[in-house]
Amino acid sequence: MNREMSEVLVRTSAGTPMGALMRRYWVPVLQACEIAEPDGPQVRVQIMGEKLLAFRDSEGRPGLISEFCSHRGVSLFFGRNEEGGIRCAYHGLKFNRLGECVEVPSAPHACKHMGITGYPCIERAGIIWAYMGPAGQEPAPPDVEWCTLPASHVYVSKRLQQCNYLQAMEGGIDTAHVSYVHRFEVDNDPMHRGTKALEYIKADGNVIFEIEKTDFGLTLYGRRNADALHHYWRITQWLFPWYTLIPPFGEHALGGHVWVPIDDHNCWAWSINFRPERPLTEQERADMAAGLGIHCEYEPGSWRPKANKDNDYLIDRVAQKDKRAYSGVFGFSAQDASLQESMGPIQDHENEKLLPTDRAISMARRMLHDSALALASGEQPPPALDAACQRVRAAGVLLPKTDKPQEWAREHLFDGRDQPVFSI
Ligand code: FES
Ligand SMILES: [Fe+2]
Repeated sequence: MNREMSEVLVRTSAGTPMGALMRRYWVPVLQACEIAEPDGPQVRVQIMGEKLLAFRDSEGRPGLISEFCSHRGVSLFFGRNEEGGIRCAYHGLKFNRLGECVEVPSAPHACKHMGITGYPCIERAGIIWAYMGPAGQEPAPPDVEWCTLPASHVYVSKRLQQCNYLQAMEGGIDTAHVSYVHRFEVDNDPMHRGTKALEYIKADGNVIFEIEKTDFGLTLYGRRNADALHHYWRITQWLFPWYTLIPPFGEHALGGHVWVPIDDHNCWAWSINFRPERPLTEQERADMAAGLGIHCEYEPGSWRPKANKDNDYLIDRVAQKDKRAYSGVFGFSAQDASLQESMGPIQDHENEKLLPTDRAISMARRMLHDSALALASGEQPPPALDAACQRVRAAGVLLPKTDKPQEWAREHLFDGRDQPVFSI
């Protein structure tokens, strides 16, 4: 990928083409439980390079405002969250959840000039989402399947990943890597083991992709050999601008991710498991909370994984030799993060040499790049703003070799919420 295209894709600060595109969608900002209490402690968050403060006002409504006071730039992290807003601790200016200045004790007439940035927020799936785009152009709330289920059916976690969002998200699009770095993890993990899917994935590491452009992004059809009459297809989706769905394993919960830029060198990797048809069991929740499956253990008091680049992700060379961990790193998320962070904070895209299994990545890049530039030039609105197109589901199925998976998917996966989960 040339330098121009890479720069468009990786830069997401305010005023950049990609930043403007991403700000047109609802952005997952933080877990609702991080601001659990009305008038509770405010929390610093950074999204796409903007330093922000999240809090819950006296009526329990979430707010996301600039971290800094308009008066002389003091951090409102040190302010008081009381009576419907945050009061700066320095000279008492007060801001509501939309960033409007509601009080200037020393000069009440100045109030209307003292507002700061504030973004509308909604809550879905235990996440506070913000709309950071031009006023009045909010799309409908996100409608990816896990956003629409009762809380009992969904488990959400987030972790800090110390690299650009693009190379992290590309790991979510690139399902070919499962046959390698996750090869042994899948045998032991309680949310993957014991499935027919694994037999096919292991027996045929040479997955062949067919990729389809859709109104939400891309559908990836990954074909592996099954038996004389059938192919095993793993079908998954990338949705504008940052959602990936995970092809399912047997009876285990479905999964997905969201990849949200913190700044150009860091991102939030949101990991979600869900059951469309029933609540998650206590055991499933306990496993997820313990960091198994796609979740992780943390450094105490932080969202940074316990296995991180400062400790070489706790690599265990003996486990690598003994074929208990393919790279010596344990845990899906640590395995992915170790490889993706090892590329550097922003991968050197000019010097990569892509292979046929990277076609979906190339297409997603092209679609994001072209959409960002088309929006910047006023030629075209952002794609996939209609949340209805997000009602898709991933699957793993055996189909007769003569069948076209695209036709099967159109019938069973698009707007597929009343359908059974297809997984082996
Ligand atoms: S700096 Fe905030 S009130 Fe003066
Ligand atoms: Fe992975």
